[in-house]
Amino acid sequence: SVKEQAEVEDTQPIKHHIRLGFSQLGSESDWRLANTNSIREAAREAGIQLLFENAEQSQEKQFEAVRYFIEQGVDVIAIAPVVETGWEAILQEVQEAGIPVLIIDRKMELSDPSLYVTFIGSDFYEEGVMAGRYLLDKMRDRPGEITIAELRGTEGASPSIDRGAGFREAIRERAEMTILASEPADFTQARGKEVMKSFLEAHGSRIDVLYAHNDDMALGAIEAVEEVGLKPGKDIIIISVDGTRQAFEMMVQGKINAVVECNPMLGPNVMQAVLELMEGRTLPKRIITPERIYTEVTAERELNNRIY
Ligand code: AHR
Repeated sequence: SVKEQAEVEDTQPIKHHIRLGFSQLGSESDWRLANTNSIREAAREAGIQLLFENAEQSQEKQFEAVRYFIEQGVDVIAIAPVVETGWEAILQEVQEAGIPVLIIDRKMELSDPSLYVTFIGSDFYEEGVMAGRYLLDKMRDRPGEITIAELRGTEGASPSIDRGAGFREAIRERAEMTILASEPADFTQARGKEVMKSFLEAHGSRIDVLYAHNDDMALGAIEAVEEVGLKPGKDIIIISVDGTRQAFEMMVQGKINAVVECNPMLGPNVMQAVLELMEGRTLPKRIITPERIYTEVTAERELNNRIY
């Protein structure tokens, strides 16, 4: 049962006697592992006792974890939601229990904003816009049709929805840019490779550009591209999102052309929010992590600064 699996993190001596229940959505990518570590470390440093549950991509498991946290009488519940919709009922249960909720990383679609205190994470729509603008610049001198393949993340997850929408909005500026193929690949390297393989089988060298919603899928796609004898980053322009060390290494080798950063190191912001909340402070409804785009030109300089 969830109860038996519950993992109470080792902490430094508890300074604030605060207990935080965190429902993490899974461990699908390098980004997610860095995010989990960041939250664990920041809790330890802040002396906050963390009850951690990994939902392995299941919204149902997230509900179970949240109910377990309610039973345990934690002070705050943080949720990184796997998908955007379907949260109202469970958040009402939390509200009835009088426990404040922090939404972490991914957005929830909620009609009642009183169901959560704040949403801490990136602006995924803006990430998509940055990816699209980069492509417009990169292809400025290339006339004619430009065909794009897109590897989307988990279906129904806010980064998939918003990164797709922001990108489309940006490339609308150039009518000859068309999305030839677009499929979900679950934010994982293995699925990224499989789906890219199927794109290549269906469209071959007609694919000019790959836009991958995260680095793990881009890394998988690079393997698929190389297996058919094409050069990633040259025969197919590759743009992805996250900014992991591995993706930077690929950029240095010229196999990825640009990466939009999505910062997973949310732990310090989350613990700060928990402490302020416990002091009775009012938090802003939205806390956005600042981000930027890196390209093959700046990758080498930045590589050593990468901490995830
Ligand atoms: O929600 C953030 C996204 O989820 C990251 O971009 C991706 O790598 C992860 O799996």
